Amino acid sequence: MKSDLDALTNPTDSPPSSFEPARILGIETSCDETAAAVVENGRLILSNEVASQVDLHAKFGGVFPEVASRQHILTIFPIIEIALQQAHFELEELDAIAVTRGPGLPGSLVIGINTAKGLSLSSGKPLIGINHLEAHIYSAWLHWPPLDQSAEASGPLAPEPRFPLLVLIVSGGHTDLILMKDHLTYQHLGATLDDAAGEAFDKVARLIGLSYPGGPAIQNAALKGNPKRFNFPRAWLEDTWNFSFSGLKTSVLREVRRLQETHLELPVADLAASFQSAVVEVLVGKTLLAAQAFNASQILVAGGVSANKALREAFHAQAACPVHIPPVALCTDNAAMIASAAYYRFVRGQRDPLTIDVLPNWPFHEL
Ligand code: KG4
Ligand code: ZN
Repeated sequence: MKSDLDALTNPTDSPPSSFEPARILGIETSCDETAAAVVENGRLILSNEVASQVDLHAKFGGVFPEVASRQHILTIFPIIEIALQQAHFELEELDAIAVTRGPGLPGSLVIGINTAKGLSLSSGKPLIGINHLEAHIYSAWLHWPPLDQSAEASGPLAPEPRFPLLVLIVSGGHTDLILMKDHLTYQHLGATLDDAAGEAFDKVARLIGLSYPGGPAIQNAALKGNPKRFNFPRAWLEDTWNFSFSGLKTSVLREVRRLQETHLELPVADLAASFQSAVVEVLVGKTLLAAQAFNASQILVAGGVSANKALREAFHAQAACPVHIPPVALCTDNAAMIASAAYYRFVRGQRDPLTIDVLPNWPFHEL
C-alpha cells in the first residue's frame, strides 16, 4: 500500500534510506498516558491514539505509579488495535515496532516494553527501544496529512527543523539544553539541578490550590493575573547552561504562607502569572543565549511544558532565528514521537534484541 503523500514525507533533507517508505508502530507507556501511533517515514502521522489517565491520578494530586501500571495493562492492547485500524494497516504490513525504554516509571515502562516484545516475536517485525526525551525532540518533525480537517496542524506544513539546532526539552521530569548537530547527534549542554520545569508547575499549582496537572491549571489561572505583582527570583546560574527551579518554588511557598497569615483570599491568578513569567523568562533567556553562543541556526522547544502559551509566545517574540515548537497536541506524551525517533534510528540500522530491558533512569547524555 503506497500513499499518495509519499512525496511529502520524503523530504530531501531526511537521511538517505533504502527502506522508504517505512511505517513504524510506536508504543509509549513511560508515565500516565497509554499511547500507540503509526508514523510513516518519521514524519507523517497515520494514527496517534492517547488514552490519558489524568482523571485517575488527579485525586492523588500526582501520578500514582501502581495505578498507572495497572491502567496501562488494561488499555495497551485496545489502544494499539485502534491505532492500527485508524492507520489502515495490519501489524504485519509495518516495518518495525518502537517502544519507550526510559526514562520513566519502571512499572509503567515494563508494560510497554513487554507488549512490544510480544508483538515483535509474534509478527517477526524488528524491535526498536527509544529514549523518551529523544522522542520529545522528534515530535517537532511530525505532521498530520495536510487535508486532515480534524487535525490541529491541517494548515500549511511547518518546515523541517534545520541543524545546528539548539534544543530545549521541558517536561515533567526533565529540563535539558542540547545542541543537536545532525539527526541523532547530541551535545548535552545543561540540565536542571533540582526540579524540572514541569515539576515546578505541578508543585506550585498544588501550593496555590490548583489541580493536577499543574501546567495547564497555572496557564489558565495566569490569564487573569498580574505577572508583575510578585517579583519571584530568577536563577540565572551564570557561566553554566544549567537551570534551577527549587528556589523559585520555595519563594512561592513563603509568599503563600505570608498571604495566608493575612486571612485574605489567596490571589491565585497573580501568583500563577508571576510564577509563570519567572519560569518563562529564564527558559527563554538561557535558550536564546545558548543559541547565540553555539551558533545554532534554529531553536527547537519540546516536552509537556512547551504546550505553555506564554512560553510559546515569548520564544516567537524574542528569538532572532526560527523556533520550532510542536503543535500543542504533540507536546505532551504521545506515541507518534516514539515512532518518529525510531524511524531515524531504523534508517541508521538500529534493531534491538528481545532481551532489552527498561531503563527508568536513562540519562540523555548516554545517547
Ligand atoms: O512531557 P510530558 O507530557 O511528560 C513527561 O515526560 O514528563 O510533560 C508533563 C508536564 C507536566 O509537568 C505538566 O504540568 C506540564 O508538562 N505541562 C504544562 C502545560 N501542559 C503540560 N506546563 C505548563 N503549561 C502547560 N500548558
Ligand atoms: Zn514526556
